[in-house]
Amino acid sequence: MSTILVTGGCGYIGSHTIIELLNQGLHDVISIDNLVNSSEKTIDRIEAITGKRIVNYSIDLCDLAATQAIFEHHPDLTGVIHFAALKAVGESVAEPLKYYHNNFESLINILKCCEAFAVKDVIFSSSCTVYGSIDQLPVTENSPVSRAESPYGNTKLVGEEILRDFIRISKNVQAIALRYFNPVGAHPTGLNGELPANKPNNLVPFITQSAAGLLPPLTVFGGDYDTRDGSCIRDYIHVCDIAEAHVMAMDYLGNGKNTDAYEVFNLGSGEGVTVFEAVQAFEKAAGMKLKYMVGDRRPGDVMAIYSDSSKAEKYLGWKAKASIHDMMASAWKWQQHLMQEA
Ligand code: NAD
Ligand code: UD1
Repeated sequence: MSTILVTGGCGYIGSHTIIELLNQGLHDVISIDNLVNSSEKTIDRIEAITGKRIVNYSIDLCDLAATQAIFEHHPDLTGVIHFAALKAVGESVAEPLKYYHNNFESLINILKCCEAFAVKDVIFSSSCTVYGSIDQLPVTENSPVSRAESPYGNTKLVGEEILRDFIRISKNVQAIALRYFNPVGAHPTGLNGELPANKPNNLVPFITQSAAGLLPPLTVFGGDYDTRDGSCIRDYIHVCDIAEAHVMAMDYLGNGKNTDAYEVFNLGSGEGVTVFEAVQAFEKAAGMKLKYMVGDRRPGDVMAIYSDSSKAEKYLGWKAKASIHDMMASAWKWQQHLMQEA
């Protein structure tokens, strides 16, 4: 059986993707994660859900020699799904060099190893942040990308360019960049989910932690936007749908169905949901009222963004299945699991 390397496998999206890969059963899976934003407990959670135990190598991907040693140790590697990156927008503004060093060096080392060891298939985690503030909705892969709002966003924009330039000259490697919209939710068992290391800035973990009494009431950032209820619109997508897309993208590359050596796909539900609608969906899923207030707009927020994901449907055969209710219900189940565990 061939082996897939998942970098960042102890993190939020990486761990859900490992679960999908193990359930599919076509590949062995290994992870590299230095645990800078996660813990080895994730490997236990994956085992609890799948009944399978995988190995995580706790090394820094910025260390080329250590990364090479793992490729050497696994001659059966055929693909890499590269999730590992630092991702806190605010921190990236405060410490840009840390972000540029970590996110570029790790990507470059992965590409060097794939070329040297002829590991053919690479999937890169990108983000809808590459589109910036955009008027024409929904966003397709042909929509223009724009200057990044933060060093983190820039590591995705430039990361895609590094990948594209490298694939152009590579003899051994082909790649896909997947642009995620807003991944939320948890595994439906409630046994695995997002574990923000610090106080969460993203909407859904803030809602669940606030509902659990761990944080003050939610502030809705701006109620005076030109949208149907005055709050911002985003395209929330269940993390398990995102995970499934990676498995399908790996199959697509593995079976030679790609037309270009480098391709880009949006991963979103295609549906725009306002902040107030997200709050209502949570209240319905959790069966409780959420305390919130309406505050100022958050600097840097775009008013509305949602995807056209028909390219992924056409070529990968992928379509988001989960509803906003499923996303909120699973996120809440995970929060309750965490509280029982504590
Ligand atoms: P996460 O922080 O939960 O997972 C990333 C993992 O990578 C962490 O476990 C961290 O310990 C590890 N890591 C970071 N740098 C490393 C290094 N140098 N060497 C080894 N391991 C390292 O993040 P996530 O939410 O799972 O995101 C995964 C990817 O998807 C990231 O590239 C992120 O930028 C991208 N993305 C995430 C979102 C989102 O909302 N979560 C949206 C768009 C794109
Ligand atoms: C943020 C990041 C983006 C990243 C994405 C990943 C910023 C500026 N952007 O996008 O780079 O790719 O997460 O999912 O941080 N909201 C509130 N109150 C809160 C938190 C959020 O009203 O306490 C609102 C926001 O204004 C926004 C929506 O909820 O309209 C979603 O916010 P968030 O989860 O932070 O995601 P994005 O802003 O889309």
